[in-house]
Amino acid sequence: MGQDARPHPLLDRAVKATTANGGEIITVNRAILEKVSRKENPQTVLGVFQQVFTPLDKINPRSSPAWVALEQVRDPGNLGTIIRTCDAAGAGGVILIDDCCDPYSVEAVRATMGSVFAVSVTKTTTDAFLTWRETWPGSVIGTRLDATHDYRAAPVEHPALILMGNEQAGLTDRLAAACDVNVKIPMRGRADSLNLAIATGIMVYAVTEGS
Ligand SMILES: C[S@@+](CC[C@H](N)C(=O)[O-])C[C@H]1O[C@@H](n2cnc3c(N)ncnc32)[C@H](O)[C@@H]1O
Repeated sequence: MGQDARPHPLLDRAVKATTANGGEIITVNRAILEKVSRKENPQTVLGVFQQVFTPLDKINPRSSPAWVALEQVRDPGNLGTIIRTCDAAGAGGVILIDDCCDPYSVEAVRATMGSVFAVSVTKTTTDAFLTWRETWPGSVIGTRLDATHDYRAAPVEHPALILMGNEQAGLTDRLAAACDVNVKIPMRGRADSLNLAIATGIMVYAVTEGS
C-alpha cells in the first residue's frame, strides 16, 4: 500500500479481509510501488498473491461444461486473453501442455484482467496429458487447419476438452490423434489462420452454447 493511499471503504474492506486471512499489509513509498508494478504512474494499492497451479489429477471435469488445453502457447498476451475468455464463457480452466509461457508473468496476468483468480491453471507434459485424457468423460476436440469437420458440426458431449495448438506450429499430430474429432473454423478470406486467442474464444463459446 502506498504511503499516499487515500482512505476508502473498499480499501478498508480489503485491508480487513487480508489481515483476517493471514495476509500482511506493507506500507511503501512511491519508488517501491513503481518498481513492483513496473509502471511510472502506479496505483496506490497493489496485491501480492501466491501462484496457484491445480494438479492434473485434481481437476474435476464435470465442474464445467468446457476446458481448454493449450499446447506450447508462447505469447503471454494470448494466454492471459484465453484465461479471461474461459472465465467469461464459463469454462473451467486451462491446461498448459509442455513448454508454455508463464501464466503468472506480468503481461499474462494483466491480459487476464482479474480472471486469473477465477479459472484454474494446470501445467503438464504431453505424456501425462495423454494418459489423463483416457479418463476424460466427455468429448475431446482438437483444432487444426487441415481438419475437415466444421467446428459447428462436431458432436459435443459435455464436459468438452478443447485442444489448441502452438501459435507457429499448430496442434501436433500426436495430440490431434488423441482427439475424438478435429475441427476447423472456416477461413473465408486470405488469412491462413486465426490468432490463437480468437480461435479459442470462438471454440469455447461454440462448445458451451446450450450447455
Ligand atoms: C495461429 S494458429 C497456428 C497456425 C499454424 N501455422 C498451423 O498450421 O496450425 C494457432 C492455433 O489456433 C487455432 N486455430 C487458428 N485458426 C484456426 C482455424 N481456422 N480453425 C481451427 N483452429 C484454428 C489452432 O488451434 C492453431 O493451432
